[in-house]
Amino acid sequence: MVDKKYLLTSKQMATFVAHGYLRFDEIVPAEMNAAIMQEFEANILRSKPAGTALSQCYESFGLLGEMLLLPQIQGIIHSLVGADPLFDHHYVHVREPRQSGAQYLHSDGIIDLRMDFDIQLMYFPHDITPEMGGTMFVPGTHYRRINENDIARYQNMLGQTQMVCKAGSILALHNGLWHCGRQNRSDQNRYMYKIHLNPAEPQVRLWNTDDLIEYEQPEVIWGGAHHDKNDVRSILCEQEPWFDSASGRLEILNRIRKWRFISGDKSFDARYWMTRLENSPSHYQHN
Ligand SMILES: [Fe+2]
Repeated sequence: MVDKKYLLTSKQMATFVAHGYLRFDEIVPAEMNAAIMQEFEANILRSKPAGTALSQCYESFGLLGEMLLLPQIQGIIHSLVGADPLFDHHYVHVREPRQSGAQYLHSDGIIDLRMDFDIQLMYFPHDITPEMGGTMFVPGTHYRRINENDIARYQNMLGQTQMVCKAGSILALHNGLWHCGRQNRSDQNRYMYKIHLNPAEPQVRLWNTDDLIEYEQPEVIWGGAHHDKNDVRSILCEQEPWFDSASGRLEILNRIRKWRFISGDKSFDARYWMTRLENSPSHYQHN
């Protein structure tokens, strides 16, 4: 059982729901990074069949299993996909020095219509400098459901973020987030370990809900001038640089739907978005 102090907060969960990722810098100890790097350089990666409970994988994954069992990483996993998710697949991505090009923008799967969601944890075992490229992703794209490489024609997008970090950093991505490996223009290999996990239990209130505000319903405030700028509602309304007035509205609705799903609060709203769409006097008149 993960100690509650390692679980994500409601604000972190809202950030994940809104932007599709969470970043954790330098959470894996240096000695562990160095030991794992030796395995990567020796091309050692032990695996298990897809669908195996993650609890049945840690031991056979060796050092990577030890890394995944670090309390803070267990807290991330537990909060997003539950205590014992299913192992989907993992891989050590290696980008060689002086590459001539970058990977195309994509999401890792086919169009996924579930409200349940998978996560991908990306682990960076060594420092990633700007010239090494790093994983690039576009925050807030995870509800734009696409089929793998359908977006490959997009070379650059407003708001794209490149993972430049210190060794031992972790990126947790919603499985729908658009991403790619950037061109490695340095003189050394760049390594990134990715593990894909499926939930095995309802993804409802799996995080530390101590900071969760149970809003009185209906409370619908336009503009939010007197709201805490960091509360869940405000986080869910944060804009992405690629939003325009129409797409931004659509994404905020998608975020509200997801927050209802993970909080179990079926009447949750931020500002006056879902409530407007659900206002159907004629329905009540005839039922
Ligand atoms: Fe990918």
